[in-house]
Amino acid sequence: RNIIYFDQIDSTNNYAKRIALEGCEEGTLIVADCQTSGRGRLGRDWNSANKKGIWMSLVLRPDIPFEEVQMLTLAASVAVVQALYEVAEIKAGIKWPNDIIINGKKVCGILVEMNMEIESINFLVLGIGVNVNQQKEDFSEELSDKATSLKMHLEELGIQKILKRTQLIAAILLKFEAIYDKVKCGDFGYIISEWKKHSVTLGREVSIIYKDRQYRGIAQDITKDGKLIVKCEDGTVKEVFSGEVSVRG
Ligand code: BTN
Repeated sequence: RNIIYFDQIDSTNNYAKRIALEGCEEGTLIVADCQTSGRGRLGRDWNSANKKGIWMSLVLRPDIPFEEVQMLTLAASVAVVQALYEVAEIKAGIKWPNDIIINGKKVCGILVEMNMEIESINFLVLGIGVNVNQQKEDFSEELSDKATSLKMHLEELGIQKILKRTQLIAAILLKFEAIYDKVKCGDFGYIISEWKKHSVTLGREVSIIYKDRQYRGIAQDITKDGKLIVKCEDGTVKEVFSGEVSVRG
């Protein structure tokens, strides 16, 4: 496997996009100890403190239609949840579409970015950020209500375990590889059922943007191609892709 490591970079997703445009191989992995402009979804910043977490991006070139990219983002969150359980017996949940949550706080975020050619996907960058070894004081006051790290979680349980970032990276990649093969051959049943099993969104109140309008409702289920089914307050039922939902509470 092609692995490119930096002790510091602006954003592993930016670098991955650059080299993907230059034609790097599928499966190329960019890992950094620190990102100076780590990016989150919806234009947010992503706090990427030095050596405290996993900041990595994987270049993929799947031969799948645009609509199926949705499955890949769900697949990535399933892979992270499985890896956390395998390495440290941590039971994490998934908040739509792909935030990884422990006790209501976010421990990992996933940012999928793609480059389209006419009608088909040229490449896709899967960026994964996992808070591993941060202490409470590593998070700003604003973040500490919303974010946690694996180490903080284990400490709360009275477990003094040193988590190796390399071991976690390897586990995430292995889990993802197995699931990625399923996405490529259109076998979505396993991903959907694993996603549902770990979901903390289904049954909860969400607010969605649908055709430029905002609606509130209850997340009921996901479709077999990965859209969230929301029963809205106005009585209608809507199906939405990722990026259009914010879960309240
Ligand atoms: C989110 O939940 O908003 C997504 C966060 C994604 C963060 C990762 S860290 C590695 C990669 N590089 C980035 O700049 N962002 C992603």
